[in-house]
Amino acid sequence: MSVDLQETQPGPNNAVSGDDAPDAKQSEKAEVQAYFESTGFERWNRIYSDSDEVNKVQRNIRIGHQKTVDEVLSWVQDQGNLVGRSFCDAGCGVGSLSLPLAQLGAGSVAASDLSAAMVTEAARRAAEAGISDERLSFSVSDLESLQGRYDTVICLDVFIHYPQAPAEEMVRHLASMAEKHLIVSFAPYTPLLALLKGIGQLFPGPSKTTRAYTLREDGIVAAAASAGFRPVRRSLNQAPFYFSRLIAFERG
Ligand SMILES: C[S@@+](CC[C@H](N)C(=O)[O-])C[C@H]1O[C@@H](n2cnc3c(N)ncnc32)[C@H](O)[C@@H]1O
Repeated sequence: MSVDLQETQPGPNNAVSGDDAPDAKQSEKAEVQAYFESTGFERWNRIYSDSDEVNKVQRNIRIGHQKTVDEVLSWVQDQGNLVGRSFCDAGCGVGSLSLPLAQLGAGSVAASDLSAAMVTEAARRAAEAGISDERLSFSVSDLESLQGRYDTVICLDVFIHYPQAPAEEMVRHLASMAEKHLIVSFAPYTPLLALLKGIGQLFPGPSKTTRAYTLREDGIVAAAASAGFRPVRRSLNQAPFYFSRLIAFERG
């Protein structure tokens, strides 16, 4: 499969569906990491900011992503007082969720990302915002290596890098770290997106084939169920070039 990680992002123009062979998993992760340490970091750091140096597609992704973040912040507040609750933001990027969570009074937020560049920028933004280290901590880690127990585990817009079976495995792993709540977002598989992707592949070009995976929601829900979690809220956040299913699960 050719690789173009120009904007690996929930969106009809660059989403695929399928599973890679297990032995390709590590090299694929290394490529994702290299991307988010370099050009991907530059690009996403701009998207997740107020910078005017974004094109129309990137601006729409910014809008769609902000809807997802805002919705998560609203849901976690509906779940109860944030004080005294511990959060894990897995694949935190530049801290678009972690920072406001801490600012809203979360007891503790453990934010991590595969990319050291992302984590460094997130920590810089946190320091600039005057958020204390006790409230918000950062580490460089892939999702697979995460450990610990948290009241709430959240993973937003990271599963785009995971085919179906590894994504389901990851849902089970993240669920094992969550005492009460698990919130994930992903680009949902739909026949329409598959069709659009198929049409895109008829016209090969530099950004037609990206390794971005859409996921079947029933598989994600079943994986969470097998770990003892049931879906309690779901939404679909859309903007042109952004398409993200958000699901909140609760234990029990
Ligand atoms: C599209 S960004 C989303 C960032 C953040 N969750 C947000 O919503 O603002 C995807 C992030 O996932 C991270 N990522 C990709 N694969 C990962 C993995 N296997 N483990 C941890 N982080 C990963 C990337 O480095 C990048 O920061």
